[in-house]
Formats: sequence, structure tokens, C-alpha cells
Amino acid sequence: HFINKFRKMERTYIMIKPDGVQRGLVGEIIKRFEQKGYKLVAMKLWSPPREFMEKHYADLSSKGFFAGLINYMTSGPVVSMVWEGANVVLEGRKMLGATKPTDSAMGTIRGDFCIEVGRNICHGSDSVESANAEIALWFPDGVSEWDSCESAWIYE
Ligand code: TYD
Repeated sequence: HFINKFRKMERTYIMIKPDGVQRGLVGEIIKRFEQKGYKLVAMKLWSPPREFMEKHYADLSSKGFFAGLINYMTSGPVVSMVWEGANVVLEGRKMLGATKPTDSAMGTIRGDFCIEVGRNICHGSDSVESANAEIALWFPDGVSEWDSCESAWIYE
């Protein structure tokens, strides 16, 4: 957390998975975070090696779906982003929807654009702690700090 004008600001790691990229949903997903009022502070498109993706999902390594998950996640490029704003970790998860698209409300990204848990098009950090770890993993050189109009037009 860091404090901006007495407000607890957070950063979260949001990733558009290979199916989201292949299906042309990059703009749509970025648009939702921009329109909400969050600030983009890092972004890259790339195809990380398998070992890197295994590190990102290390806490799921004992799950039966792990190998399939890593195959899926390394099947094409992903878009890695860091978004900043008040409560962005929890709010970002709300915007993505539930892990299983069948549990995701319409109006969420997963609720609107996908059908199966194994092709759920996007990732978002589930806590401030995991956000910090994921941002450090995916953006070891840090993020870009820049001045936007948010202080005047997004926050009171
Ligand atoms: P998880 O960290 O539990 O969910 P989330 O992405 O919402 O934080 O799981 C990571 C990914 O693993 C999930 O987005 C899709 C995949 N997955 C499956 O393929 N099958 C499953 O049964 C579960 C729980 C997850």
C-alpha cells in the first residue's frame, strides 16, 4: 500500500491470458479498467517460458489441472499489466468475475466473454501480498509512475 492524499492506493497484477489475446479481447479488457478509473502503470505482451509460468502458478503445482493450465498459459503470448488505484486488488477481481465463468455474473469480464474455467481469459491478483509478489515477478524493473488527472477527476 502507499498513501495518496490520505487514501490507501494499491497495485494489482492483471494478465490477459493467451485465449484473451487470440480472441481480440485485449482492448475490451483494458477499456474496462481505464473506464473504471484505474491507472495503467506497466504493460507488456510476451510469451514467457514454461518455467516462468510454473513459478507464477507455483501454489497450484499439486493440482490435477496444473499441467493443462501451464500448457494453456504458454500456448501464446499474454498481456501483463499493473493497474493502480484505491482498492484495485479486490475491485479488479470483481471486474474479472469468479474463477469459474459459470459462477461469474453477467457484466464481469469472465461472465461476458467465456464459458470454461480452463479458458477464462484473464488473471488478477487475489490479495495485496500476492499482487506485490506477482508484480515483482513479472516486472522486475518496476513500473512507470506518471501523473494523471486522477487526483482531480477520479478521487474527491
Ligand atoms: P485460481 O488461482 O484458483 O483462480 P483465479 O485465477 O481466479 O485466481 O486458479 C488459477 C487458474 O487455474 C484459473 O484461473 C483457471 C485454472 N483452473 C482450472 O483450470 N481448473 C480449476 O478447477 C481451477 C480451480 C482453476
